[in-house]
Formats: sequence, C-alpha cells, structure tokens
Amino acid sequence: MKLGLFGFGCVGQGLWKVLHETKGIRADIKRICIKHPDKQRPVPTHFFTTHAADILDDPEIDVVVELIDDAEAAFEIVSGALSRGKAVVSANKKMIAHRLPELYALQQKTGAPFLYEGACCASIPIIRNLEEYYDNDLLTSVEGIFNGTTNVILTKIFEENLSFGEALKFAQANGFAESDPTLDVEGFDPKFKLCILLLHAFGVFVQPEKVLHFGIHRLNDFDIEFARSRGSVLKLVARCFRENDKVAAYCLPRFVQKGHRYEGVRHEYNAVTLESGFSERQVFVGKGAGDKPTGCAVLSDISALHYQYKYEYRKFGQNGTFFDTKGTLLTVYVRHEHEGQVTESDFSEITERYASNKAKYLVGKIQLEKLQTAAWLREPGVNVIEYV
Ligand code: HSE
Repeated sequence: MKLGLFGFGCVGQGLWKVLHETKGIRADIKRICIKHPDKQRPVPTHFFTTHAADILDDPEIDVVVELIDDAEAAFEIVSGALSRGKAVVSANKKMIAHRLPELYALQQKTGAPFLYEGACCASIPIIRNLEEYYDNDLLTSVEGIFNGTTNVILTKIFEENLSFGEALKFAQANGFAESDPTLDVEGFDPKFKLCILLLHAFGVFVQPEKVLHFGIHRLNDFDIEFARSRGSVLKLVARCFRENDKVAAYCLPRFVQKGHRYEGVRHEYNAVTLESGFSERQVFVGKGAGDKPTGCAVLSDISALHYQYKYEYRKFGQNGTFFDTKGTLLTVYVRHEHEGQVTESDFSEITERYASNKAKYLVGKIQLEKLQTAAWLREPGVNVIEYV
C-alpha cells in the first residue's frame, strides 16, 4: 500500500515511528501534506507537500491517512478521498462525530472503506470490538474514561497535589492534549468519542449537540476536598446505555470510590466498560492518548485494509433503537456560590444541602433533560459532578 498522509503533528509522527518499527507491514508513506513547510521535521523534505491534490490525485496512493486537527479541512480531505475511491483512515473524533451521517452515506455510495479506531480511546480497540464481537443487540451500556488529558490532570491533582494549570501543562507537553485544550477539559472530546461509539454500539446517529457534556474546568479546592472526605477521587466519565429501544447518553465528572475499577485507571489511560445481556461486565483498559498509542491504532486500521476490512454498521436500522434522554434520572452534586443560584425545583429530590461562607452545595436527583437545559449550569461558580 502507498499511503498519503495529511498532518505531521503528534499522531502523524507517532504513526511514522510505529510504521518504521513494525516489521511485516506492507505499507509505505509516499507523501505528507502539511500546512507549514518551514517547520523543522525529523523526516527528509522530499516527503512533504502543501498541496492536497499531490495526494488526492496521485493514482499510486491508495490509502489516505488524515491526521490534522482542523475538523472542516479534515472533512474535505476525507470526503474528497472517499469520492475518489481511496481507502481512508482518520483519528479526527471531532470531525467524525459531527459528520458521521454524511461519511456513512459516502461509504455506501463509493464502497471505499473508512476506518477510525484511533479516534476513540487510542490504543483500546473498541470500535472493531463493537462491530465484530458485540455484533448483536444484547449490549446494554458502554461507558468509561474516554479522555487522557483530563485523566492526567485528575491523577496529578489527587495524587501529587499539582495545580490544575501545572497538570494541564504536563498533559500538553506530553502530546496528550488537543491543540485547543478546552476540548479536553470542558468534556467535548470524550463526548465526540461517545457519539461515535453510539453508532457502533447501538446503531444510532447522534449529533454531539444533543448530548449533555460537562468537564472538569470548574473544579476547585472545595470539590477536591469534598471528594477526599467521601473517600473518592474524580474521573470524567462518558456514558451511553439502552433501555428497551431507547438510548441515552451524557458525559459528566463523577465521584469514584476508592477501590472502584476506575480508581486504578490513572494518567493517560482510558477505560471502556461494556455491559451486555449474557457476558455481563467487561472492561478494556489502555493508553488513551499520546503519539505511539494513537499511531498504533491508526497502523492497525492500515493493516486491516490489507484484508479489505470495512465497518459494516450492522446495528444501524436493525433494531429500531432511537436516542431519547427522557426519563433518565441522575444523582448529582452541585456546588454553587450564591443562595438561590440553583433552581431547586428542577430536582425531584434533594438529599443533602450545605452552605457556608466558603461554598454551598446540594446533592439531589434530577432528570438528565432538566440538567441539560438548566441555565444555572452555565453560570460561573457552578460545578456539577455525578454522585453514584
Ligand atoms: N486529547 C485526547 C485525549 C487525545 O486527551 O484523550 C486522544 O484522543
């Protein structure tokens, strides 16, 4: 196979390394399309071009690997390559989560394969497992820690008493964070991954805008102390589950009791927990971010193209499942600044209330739909954490 690569950042260089360290894979990078030709790069200059057409219109290149971080430009590249009948591998979760319906239609029309294991939890082979092994409708839930950067930050805060800023800098310096790290810390990135998994787990297309997400950006010392006092740590957890034909999803930080299976998932590791009718709980743990773990998932997709592997999307349209958040009740801790800032009538039950000069919080049950539309949730000074 001759590969045309778009982007040579952290993941692109990771792919370069793993490809050159792997014997027995019959794939060579022919060209690499980049934005800034003047940057110093550890690869001979003849590989580089700034013209997409040098890859897209090269008949010798049969696989396009898209690893840039601009979602709009990435969609143009991926759709352009699929339309030309080229196989495509991508790790662009933001672009894929937003454009899945069009990308699915393009694959149906052109017959060209489009693989993106690197977009969800890097080294954990979750998409292919959902496609191949969990190829039936017995799956009831998929949840886990889908973001390495926030997990690094939370680990460093809880275990090393590092400040949020220092921990984020560490994640950025190690190539875990997105170039816009608000995507990580505010919970967009794990939500994008969740939207992709929703299709492969339950056969539903769900636009990211429909799914509640809240990150760890509002975390303060009071919340950290609260977690400690309850014998917990914090994890950012994305979750989707099915009840009869209905599927719901959300992404929230969560208190995790010491000894829980997620406590030991530290640093840039991710975890995916699957629940299904007969096999019950299964947990996958692995590095969820970084150059080589992501490069390795991309390489595995390239390798799968050798045997004409394609996603079949068998669950789509098969079992009449639809996305609906109605009726999902969550128990949450809500810390706030002022009396009356949180509309208590939004809660169906309040089990704990606390107020001091330092902080105020309540713990209660609230419908997911109510939480999603609550104006108070958007106010600075308000933080929400799932309390399970
Ligand atoms: N920024 C992402 C993360 C990279 O931290 O998980 C891997 O998708």
